[in-house]
Order: sequence, then structure tokens, then C-alpha cells
Amino acid sequence: QIIEKGAFQWTAPSNIALVKYWGKKANQIPANPSVSFTLNNCKTITKLAFEAKKNDGSFSFDLLFEGKPKEDFKPKINKFFERVAVYLPFLKDYHFVIDTENTFPHSSGIASSASGMAALAMNLMSVEKALIPEMTNDYFYQKASFLARLGSGSACRSVKGQIVTWGKQANIDGTTDLYGVEYPYAVHSIFNDFQDTILLVDKGEKQVSSTLGHDLMHDHPYAERRFAQAHENLHKLIPIFENGNLDEFIKIVESEALTLHAMMMTSMPYFILMKPNTLEIINAIWKFRETTKIPVCFTLDAGANVHVLYPDNVKEKVLQFIKDELVGYCQNGQYLCDQIGNGALQV
Ligand code: PMV
Repeated sequence: QIIEKGAFQWTAPSNIALVKYWGKKANQIPANPSVSFTLNNCKTITKLAFEAKKNDGSFSFDLLFEGKPKEDFKPKINKFFERVAVYLPFLKDYHFVIDTENTFPHSSGIASSASGMAALAMNLMSVEKALIPEMTNDYFYQKASFLARLGSGSACRSVKGQIVTWGKQANIDGTTDLYGVEYPYAVHSIFNDFQDTILLVDKGEKQVSSTLGHDLMHDHPYAERRFAQAHENLHKLIPIFENGNLDEFIKIVESEALTLHAMMMTSMPYFILMKPNTLEIINAIWKFRETTKIPVCFTLDAGANVHVLYPDNVKEKVLQFIKDELVGYCQNGQYLCDQIGNGALQV
């Protein structure tokens, strides 16, 4: 099959880990398995146009961010192309124009690498599918997640499904270090429309890149225990996802967030990625939960922003609480309302 030119467009969402991926081996193999909620509103929209060129042994692409050339993203994409070239032999046969934008404000402190790399991987798979039309749907999505992983580890969890697990787990068929898979067991309906309100505490540049963060786990004094704990927490989540016991869910999710930050505080060099307002918010959530018995909890990424997680049936009360008590801790009062979503979509 020879195709001269064409274009595809995909959206891919961000995701929020419940059990965190922190630490990796060579080739973006995770040191421990993780699981995340796929988000719905925070996403990247990427159009990929391609046109045949002479294969001169090098990659050729232009990169547009919000319609304007963006030179400083290019090295990252080039590195990604180098990593995936053996799996996508057509890469050097085309000139690409990658035109990308996010639905969330840039420099919001929300990492766009997961949604961005997933959206690019989907587009590249569409090119491959155009060249190999007999490709199955399963193969398409698995390989898209596999490629996304090579761009940014957590991106492999942004491809398909509401709850996605990545990383080999003992006794759980189908789990693999190579790509994300839809959570394979029963999930209680309380999780179907779970909410994630993201409080933007600090919109600045990330203090620690995730690359450096993962590296710090290499000779970290608590690494092995932490990796084992991630396996244990995933195991404990199996009955919790099934029976919808939110008290137990909250314990694991909050402990995972604090453990991620504890790993950074106890590495060498060490970092504190929370801000005073992060702690104010956590304390306010705990107080609200204790007094109202409403099952709301927090999780954190490798930064100061707080993800507030709660079921849809308490949405009104939690949003009122956020407006009354938490917005004051957000930079410029900004927060983003999101909820669990389904993954990447061709548009
Ligand atoms: O995908 P990376 O390399 O940016 O790592 C992301 C790590 C965390 O967001 C902190 C945790 C996770 O599992 O998403």
C-alpha cells in the first residue's frame, strides 16, 4: 500500500493515577504497576498531516502548538520518533505536520505529556492502519498504548478505558509492562461517573521533571518497599472497585499520594513539591469529610495541585464546599472540573 498524503485528528485525555507509577527501568518499563482514572475534559487535540518524502534516513516534521510554530517542543518529539522508529518503519518516508492544542490552560501545572503523547501515538497508529488496513482494533489500541508509553510512561494509560492499569501484576492475566490495559475486573457503578476537580495551587513550571523523579528511585533507600507496596495496594483495590467501599478506597488513594511525595522528600537530592496551600486544602478536605461523612478525598501528582475525587451523587455539596472553602487556596481562584472518561477519540 502506497499513500501519498493524508491527515488524521485525535483527542486523548489526561489521567490521574490512584496507585502511582514512580520509578522506572530501561525502555520505559515501570518499576511497579499503577492504575488510573482516565479523565474526560482535560485533553490534547492533535492533528497529524503527512506527505510522502524521500527516505534520506532522517525524520522530518513541523510542530505547531495552538497554530503557531513551537520549536522548544521539537527535541522531545524527535527523541520520541527515535524511540518508536523501529516499530513504525514508515516514519522516515513522510514529512509530518503535528498541530496540537490542549483544552486546559497551558502553564496550569497540569502535565500535558500524558494526553499529548497519547494523542500523537493514536495519530501515528492511524497512519499505520492506513498502510495496513487489515490491522485489528485490539492491535491498534494495544500498539497505540505501547507507543504512548515510549513517549511518556503514564501516557499509555490515556488510550482506552475508564480505569486503566499498567504494569505486570502477579496473578492478573493480561497485565503487562508494555502497555496499559482496561482494568479487567468488576467495577461498582459508584465509579462510573466519578468526579475529579483539579485545584490549581501552583501553576508554575514543574520543580522536578518526572524523568529526574523516576531516576531518583534508582538508589532510593525505600524503593524496594515502595514498589512492593504498589503491588499490595493494587491487590487491595480489587474488592474495593467491586464493592464500592469508598472508605477503603480513600485510605489507599490518599496514602498513595502522600507516599509519592514522601519518596521525593526522602530521595537525594530531596524535594518538597507541595506548597503551604496544598496542605491547607488537604486539612480542609479531612475536616469536611469528618464532619459531613461525605466520601471525598484527594490525590496529588508530582506537584502542588490537588485532585479532589468524589462520586457524582455528592457533586453539588462538594462543589459548594470547594467554592466556599478551597478556592481561596487556588492561584487566581482557578480550578478545573473533570470526571472519569473513556480515552482517546478520533475526531
Ligand atoms: O509519565 P511520567 O513519566 O510523566 O510520570 C508520571 C508520574 C506520576 O504522574 C507522578 C504518577 C502516575 O502514575 O501518573
